[in-house]
Amino acid sequence: MSDQATGAQDGFAARYGRRPDGVWSAPGRVNLIGEHTDYNHGFVLPFAIDRRTVAAVGVRDDRVVRVRSTFTEEEVSLAIDDLSPTAMEGWSAYVLGVAWALGTQGHDLSQAPGLDLLIDSRVPVGAGLSSSAAIECAVAVALNDLWELNLSPLDLARIGRIAENRAVGAPTGLLDQAASMLGREDHGVFLDCDTEQAEAVALHLREEGLEILVMDSRVEHEHATGGYRDRRESCERGAAALAVATLRELSEDDLTRASAVLDDETYRRVRHIVTENARVLETVRTLGESGPRAIGDLLNASHASMRDDFEITVPEIDLACATAVEHGAIGARMTGGGFGGSAIALVPADARAEIEAAVTSALASAGMREPQLFTVTPSEGARRDA
Ligand code: GLA
Repeated sequence: MSDQATGAQDGFAARYGRRPDGVWSAPGRVNLIGEHTDYNHGFVLPFAIDRRTVAAVGVRDDRVVRVRSTFTEEEVSLAIDDLSPTAMEGWSAYVLGVAWALGTQGHDLSQAPGLDLLIDSRVPVGAGLSSSAAIECAVAVALNDLWELNLSPLDLARIGRIAENRAVGAPTGLLDQAASMLGREDHGVFLDCDTEQAEAVALHLREEGLEILVMDSRVEHEHATGGYRDRRESCERGAAALAVATLRELSEDDLTRASAVLDDETYRRVRHIVTENARVLETVRTLGESGPRAIGDLLNASHASMRDDFEITVPEIDLACATAVEHGAIGARMTGGGFGGSAIALVPADARAEIEAAVTSALASAGMREPQLFTVTPSEGARRDA
């Protein structure tokens, strides 16, 4: 069992005065490629990372759910019969929202016992690495076992997304929860967000002497409001004007028509989605045929498209990516929803130290906040630890 799981068992005992019935965990994610394509029913290729959120959970003999965490002293409690998005405040919505979402999907919770939960997270918050999905998925696997729901990992990912959309209020797609539920060591999760079919794609990073360097800009982002929601609306406007149900239905051949029909800004938003979908498919093909050293241009092109067409990057992230590539990274791109958060660089392990030093010094020279740099490895998705 991991240190983190043991720590959560002890932390649970200290707070609730008994041992938990079990410990479950789920990871954060990095998206290798395929940004803002998920809610457009397109393609994504994320992987789960080696930073997890743990939920230690004990069954109660009443119908109350109590939530505590290692990051705040606050305790939130709510009766199962009173679960509703308006009754949830702050971060506890990521936990209670999952329980509520199960009820909205026809699962009979009338006999479900109450629970005590302790959440401990090692997924950095605000870095664009899906700390929220990690909480949702850790809780979802725990409830699936303790409430004997027999749901599949993909069903649990959908439950997590409902919690995020309707309890937390962020209009996001399935990317984060699918990665957190379905991740596998050294594999990406190739997901078709239209059919919701997922496939594990071997990444072969270690064999190739490669690492994924996360470059957290420490610029704050927020997806419930602002730019993320705006971009989603632009995509919907573009699809309506082009008379398709979703942008997934368009291919690069449709772009000439799109440019004639749409205003310049909406056109560029649409072009990002259409070309990004093509890049995800190309990345999956290239990984299979030539391995990870051959995907650098696709990562760089994805970044340029997010910077110039979708306009969701920030100067800190643009500079970090450009500097990483100049100093030997195979490719680099922003990852996640944008407007801050993190970028990733695919780097030869023996060049990492030099790339890190170059990125840190370039941002310092530009008077920008010092980034947080660390590596992540593609890891196993949500599971029971104890
Ligand atoms: C956030 C959302 C995801 C996805 C990405 C952008 O991470 O939660 O659903 O839309 O942004 O690719």
